[in-house]
Amino acid sequence: MPAIYAYAPGKVILTGEHAVVYGRPAIAVPVHEVRVRAAIQANPTDSKGTVHILAPDISLDTVLNDMPADHPMSIIFREVQKELGIEHLPALTLTVTSTIPIAAGLGSGAAISVAISRVLSSFLGAPLPEESISRIAFETDHFYHGTPSGIDNTVISYGRMVFFIRGKPIEMLANPLAFTLVIADSGKKSLTGKVVHDLRTRVEIDPARYQAIFDRSEIISRSAREAIEQGDHTRLGTLLSDNHFLLQQLAVSTAHLDLLVKTAMEAGALGAKLSGAGCGGNIIALVD
Ligand code: MEV
Repeated sequence: MPAIYAYAPGKVILTGEHAVVYGRPAIAVPVHEVRVRAAIQANPTDSKGTVHILAPDISLDTVLNDMPADHPMSIIFREVQKELGIEHLPALTLTVTSTIPIAAGLGSGAAISVAISRVLSSFLGAPLPEESISRIAFETDHFYHGTPSGIDNTVISYGRMVFFIRGKPIEMLANPLAFTLVIADSGKKSLTGKVVHDLRTRVEIDPARYQAIFDRSEIISRSAREAIEQGDHTRLGTLLSDNHFLLQQLAVSTAHLDLLVKTAMEAGALGAKLSGAGCGGNIIALVD
């Protein structure tokens, strides 16, 4: 029996990261140049119904029943089965490979959940709609990071640019004039959960200061939406750089990320900023 496959892209946050956790809007873009691939092969000769999981990139070779109940893999399988009303799985081997760097702000955790939910539901004969795939990825994101806004699972499940406000209906963004982003990975891993948690501690100490920064971030995201819809890339570039300044004020940038941003600007970028949680990860530069 041939294996079946599903894919999920990476993502970058164009504007509004962190503020989005506090209910402000943010814009995210799927990055189709990197992706997770999940494949399932049925094992009809295995009468015990073993679910074998292989992820060679992280040296994982295990059996589903041996994994802790709160492990993302266990959560994905449980949620897909619940959604489809399927109690017992047939014997199968799931193989997950990825070209998305881990802990680099490119959404690898959500992309793994999306690709697996997609391939598993297709394998079980009932491909789940984007909305359910996104919800399952949101559940698993709690494992990587306690208080996700939901933007990563949304942009990766739908594979389209989104204007996202936590708890509000998803808005896909029209993009009349394609723009080009350069993504530079700083090479320093950053755990989103830790960065978001540390920022929350600072916010709780001085809420007024941070709410003012989040308000400015909201204005940037709303203006960036207009600039995208009008195809005004010069304005969009300026807004990205303004957003980086806010992220510096949130103390989630680093000397290394600032240097990458400065280098991009000196090389002629229209704007540049760190993207994602910061404290490592990647920067994006808008170029012509
Ligand atoms: C992570 O891609 C973006 C953050 O705003 C966290 C979140 O929205 O869950 C830093």
